[in-house]
Amino acid sequence: MQSKNKKIRNASITAVGMYVPEKILDNKYFESIVETNDEWITSRTGIRERRIMENGATSDMSAKACEDLFKTTNVKPEEIDIIIVATVTPDMLFPATACLVQEKIGAKNAWGFDLSAACSGFLFALQTGASLIESGSYKKVLVVGSDKMSAITDYTDRNTCILFGDAASAVLLEPSEDLNFGIKDSLLHIDGAGKNALYMRAGGSALPASHETVDQKLHYIYQDGKAVFKVAVKGMADISFEIMQKNGLKSEEVSYLVPHQANLRIIDATAQRMGIPKEKVMINIDRYGNTTAATIPLCLTEYYRTGKVKKGDNLILSAFGAGYTWGALYLTWAID
Ligand code: UT7
Repeated sequence: MQSKNKKIRNASITAVGMYVPEKILDNKYFESIVETNDEWITSRTGIRERRIMENGATSDMSAKACEDLFKTTNVKPEEIDIIIVATVTPDMLFPATACLVQEKIGAKNAWGFDLSAACSGFLFALQTGASLIESGSYKKVLVVGSDKMSAITDYTDRNTCILFGDAASAVLLEPSEDLNFGIKDSLLHIDGAGKNALYMRAGGSALPASHETVDQKLHYIYQDGKAVFKVAVKGMADISFEIMQKNGLKSEEVSYLVPHQANLRIIDATAQRMGIPKEKVMINIDRYGNTTAATIPLCLTEYYRTGKVKKGDNLILSAFGAGYTWGALYLTWAID
């Protein structure tokens, strides 16, 4: 990130939008397909239900989230400079989902790309978009977090199928000359040592699709839940605390923690480390489960639209995911 004294503009979120599919799978449904129960799922994860996209792909959900955003701003799709889509469930390996979204929403003057950082995807994309705005070269960047996790979920594996859902959410970044608002700092990391703890093994160049890869169910999410839990709980708590310290923020100066929604126990541990009470933590994991890149912007959109986030609020966004990837980002909310 640019050093503070050189910065002449911040990137601010100036509009938000979201899309969740209509179809709901509640915990009871999973009792009918795998050996599990509502009590286990609720107490171990905090999830009660999740949404599933029956017809359509990640680009369709992304486009719907962007259309929802455009209803709330005077900015027109043709004014968009860049579209960044954070996803691990692109419509296909190529072209980029960003191209498909660009066509669907009519952003005819935009360029763009997909960003793969799993559950940290939105944070990485937000920082990337912010840097492009801060450079002075671009004025309107759409950052989308979108995942159709049902497309890569094995509904016979109780370890993973209860966790994930489908959703998309988008934010618009624009320059802010007032440095009191917008994205102020971020701490982002990757560590490939975690590559085998959470991944989809086949379908890429290492192990292209074949009859064997399909028979061996290698096109689904694999997760060593216990291993990921251990590093996620420490990783998310530490990084969230670190960004507060780095920016001299006391817990009472943080209006909200906006955590990736993978597990309520990880979220609680992060809030505890930061000294933040429950009512200042954005949570919707109970209704949507883990929607990977969509969780954080979905929280932002819902809390903003219900009047819970106000201009001037200090937010700490934080995430941990496959890779490993993790990070935290500090911003001051700029929308009235
Ligand atoms: O979003 C990206 C990053 N991902 C994460 O942050 C996820 C991190 N991991 C987790 O959230 C948790 O590890 C899980 C929610 C995935 C699992 O919770 P856990 O408390 O770590 O459970 P566990 O994996 O240690 O399993 C405990 C027991 C096992 O039985 P045994 O071996 O002790 O007999 C599992 O087989 O629970 C069993 N189990 C289930 N039981 C009922 C696993 N899944 C289920 C299930 N229903 N759905």
